[in-house]
Amino acid sequence: MAFLKRILRILFARAEAVFDWSFGQSNNPFSHLGALGWYFFWIVAASGIYLYLFFDTGITDAYASVEYITNDQWYAAGIMRSLHRYASDALVIVVFLHILREFSLDRLRGKRFFAWITGVPLLWFIYMCGITGYWLVWDSLAQYIAIATSEWLDTLPFFGEPIANNFLNSATLGGRFFTLMVFMHIFAPLLMLFLMWLHIQRHAHARVNPPRALAIGTAVTLVVLSLVYPAVSQGPANLDVVPASVNLDWYYLAVYPLLDVIPGGQRWLVLVVGSIILSLMPWLPPAKKIWTPVVSLQNCNGCGRCFDDCPFGAISMEPRSDGASFALEAVVDTDHCVSCGICTGSCPTATPFRRTSAIVPGIELPDYTVADLREKTMEAAQNFGDEARIIIYTCDHSGTEELRENGAQVITMPCVGMLPPAFIDFALSRDFADGVMLAGCAEGDCYYRLGDDWTNQRIDGKRDPYLRKRVDRDRLETSWLPTGSSRRRERDLQDFRTWLEGLPPKEPKRRRNRD
Ligand code: HEM
Ligand code: SF4
Ligand code: SF4
Repeated sequence: MAFLKRILRILFARAEAVFDWSFGQSNNPFSHLGALGWYFFWIVAASGIYLYLFFDTGITDAYASVEYITNDQWYAAGIMRSLHRYASDALVIVVFLHILREFSLDRLRGKRFFAWITGVPLLWFIYMCGITGYWLVWDSLAQYIAIATSEWLDTLPFFGEPIANNFLNSATLGGRFFTLMVFMHIFAPLLMLFLMWLHIQRHAHARVNPPRALAIGTAVTLVVLSLVYPAVSQGPANLDVVPASVNLDWYYLAVYPLLDVIPGGQRWLVLVVGSIILSLMPWLPPAKKIWTPVVSLQNCNGCGRCFDDCPFGAISMEPRSDGASFALEAVVDTDHCVSCGICTGSCPTATPFRRTSAIVPGIELPDYTVADLREKTMEAAQNFGDEARIIIYTCDHSGTEELRENGAQVITMPCVGMLPPAFIDFALSRDFADGVMLAGCAEGDCYYRLGDDWTNQRIDGKRDPYLRKRVDRDRLETSWLPTGSSRRRERDLQDFRTWLEGLPPKEPKRRRNRD
């Protein structure tokens, strides 16, 4: 499993580098696959509602109404039909990439299982929506799908009279089952929307909207595609004739040719066993036990910043239990916490500017304490060579180990978002380093979802606790890159070193001035 993840990671890193180069890091579609899934869903829903205004739900008139939509009203309903189809196809593509990417990044294991197992039934619903949609056109493709699907459904012991009998010939054609399909094509997306909502319930500040430039670019591409290559039907269904050949939509219907190969009941077995194996992925093999943060009530003033910043909604603010004069205290839900440490980075009491004995913040991970971080920062200062002295604060997921060999001192933590901004001030103002570099995952694609966002906002003074204005920004560098970008990371470090060496020497004195 680990080998498969590594291979996928390398492939994604290569593809992402190309997209980074052409789209820019913040608009790289690979970083927004989940959000693009939502976006395509809304396009499909909006175009579907428009189409429904002109669609005739009776089996005898359905084909004619779709022809009217496609040809007579090509400039509006026709474009909507194409958008409906292409956005549905795009949904399948982004969802499959999304699954593979989350799997390769291991963002499904242990306490992060929830999004994965709610994703499995989502897959079923995506297909249910797509297949029932193709059915409604009632062309020769729909005829093929209707017969193959009803024969497949007839292998279940629930139906008294075989459903396939509805489609034996024109004389036996029953509108009942067709109407059921219309109903399912409306009902399944509603259930799908509910599942999509459930899917992100363990994510605080879930990203359900792609960046504006990416959204506009994607919409324009879909409209151009719809104009150049409009979606059309494949000739009316005729149950008295077996369709000789049909063009399949391989995104939704690739499974149909397999139905001829896999016999009756075994198809259900494959589907059920496949879904069970997929659902078990988060525990194959079980994740290691992790330490969750400890709240120190003597140092927690109930400000709620950790609650705002936790990417997994694992902190709640509860009435004070220790009789202190503050109204609230932070409480960690260990079932939801993934031990990213981001809450420590947001706690105003997490500061190294204190005596060692007093360095216990309101919240911290027992195996990555703020006191240790301070110790490591001071130790780093002892180990520099002749070049510009750079401390790199980095995370377990950015592959920065090799930068140690380049003369920098690397201090690793679960997520860069765990670093309280006061540490940057501490390292520079106490002259432990000439420069500080924060090296984390690609922008908008933090392993723990929001660590890079919060860090950037703290540096820019947009999010508490912010980096004090007195900190010389010329001596601070950020390097947000995808895992596996070691060459680009080395280049960032080298550029920063050259930049630092060109700066005038630091003022020796530390003046006490207020921001
Ligand atoms: C309609 C289909 C889907 C949509 C629209 C969708 C959307 C999303 C969104 C918006 C996020 C949160 C991104 C963030 O804020 O960081 C997410 C996360 C995730 N999704 Fe999906 N998803 C879909 C299907 C699936 C499927 C089929 C699977 C797997 C079987 C899956 C697995 C995951 C995982 C593992 C995460 C990350 C959880 C974490 O960070 O802890 N998703 N998805
Ligand atoms: S360690 Fe991360 S997931 Fe756990 S409570 Fe803190 S911010 Fe939330
Ligand atoms: S950020 Fe710190 S002080 Fe504020 S509520 Fe959380 S633990 Fe308490």
